[in-house]
Amino acid sequence: MEKLYDSFDRLHDYVRLSITDRCNLRCVYCMPKEGLPFFPTDRVLSQDEIVQMIENFAAMGVSKVRITGGEPLLRTDVVEIVRRIKAVEGINDVSITTNGLFLAKLAKPLKEAGLDRLNISLDTFKPDRYRKITRGGNIQQVLDGIATASKLHFKKIKLNIVLIKGQNDDEVLDFLQYTKDHDVNARFIEFMPIGNSLKTWQKEYVGLKSVFDTCDENGLTYHPIELRGNGPSDNYQIDGYEGSFGLIHPISSKFCENCNRLRITADGYVKACLYWNEEIDIRAAIGDPAAFRQLIQKALDNKPLNHEMAMKETDRIIDKAPTWRHMSQIGG
Ligand code: GTP
Ligand code: 5AD
Ligand code: SF4
Repeated sequence: MEKLYDSFDRLHDYVRLSITDRCNLRCVYCMPKEGLPFFPTDRVLSQDEIVQMIENFAAMGVSKVRITGGEPLLRTDVVEIVRRIKAVEGINDVSITTNGLFLAKLAKPLKEAGLDRLNISLDTFKPDRYRKITRGGNIQQVLDGIATASKLHFKKIKLNIVLIKGQNDDEVLDFLQYTKDHDVNARFIEFMPIGNSLKTWQKEYVGLKSVFDTCDENGLTYHPIELRGNGPSDNYQIDGYEGSFGLIHPISSKFCENCNRLRITADGYVKACLYWNEEIDIRAAIGDPAAFRQLIQKALDNKPLNHEMAMKETDRIIDKAPTWRHMSQIGG
């Protein structure tokens, strides 16, 4: 089998597939206050197109698929999508990134359909803040979803916490302590300037050094650990704690060197990098594996070595929007 490599010899075996641009929240770092016009239904890939596309990818050595959105659990056929992707020969790891609002109901059917891993966005433990950051979300639904999912023995539940200055950066200790008796990986994520967040990024970005500082100030000792998944997170465990924590730092230190991922948007474009404007329409080629491969290879041939946002930690002026797409239209 001829596998997928880019021009820097990076093997690409991981596809992040957005199955909808719709979301039931409008998180401040992701969407504008007024929301975004959603794609008409026929602009979004159908279930059959998705499955056929994954079959094409599997024939090129892709073995991991992460389903993203918008909010992927809004798609009424999400369970069936998971089941069919998991059944594709060669695909051995299927995961979802979700805001968790519908998890209490869907965690079990998703697990039964073969879902291996779950990443859940949760930026605060405070109900009022959650409502503010997500512009209306009810945190209890997410906590119920996490509780339900925790009983189902997913390989590892990860929490995604985007740190935003003045909004939730005083909750680092709360998240660390949560891992004491919860077997989750709490990942602190650097706020990225993309789409809507271009406007506020400069004043709201915080580096992740504060996570280690918080450990030190509170006498929490930790050690590095390896975790399943090919994500960009550096992971640690506080000694004696059940769970672990992770740092995702695209700005302060790049992880592009080991990038193994391709992104597919809900409307059928391949993006070789989250931070790269170029995207190629692959929808029309889904039924023709050779043509499909050519387009994917073209995207990989042009994939940059690393992105432009990780230049300097301070005073970086983002003078050029990286893409017209907002984060919710790419899938993170
Ligand atoms: P696994 O390792 O498979 O669990 O996935 P993941 O951590 O990559 O997935 P998730 O969707 O939970 O992403 C977590 C955060 O990492 C999000 O904010 C993503 O935007 C960010 N992220 C994931 N991949 C990349 C990448 O290639 N580049 C950048 N800059 N950010 C990424
Ligand atoms: N910076 C960093 N992470 C972001 N996400 C969405 N927007 C941003 C941003 N501007 C994260 C969400 C979700 C994941 C898919 O992407 O928290 O967990
Ligand atoms: Fe929705 Fe996720 Fe964007 Fe929040 S980060 S608005 S949950 S797509």
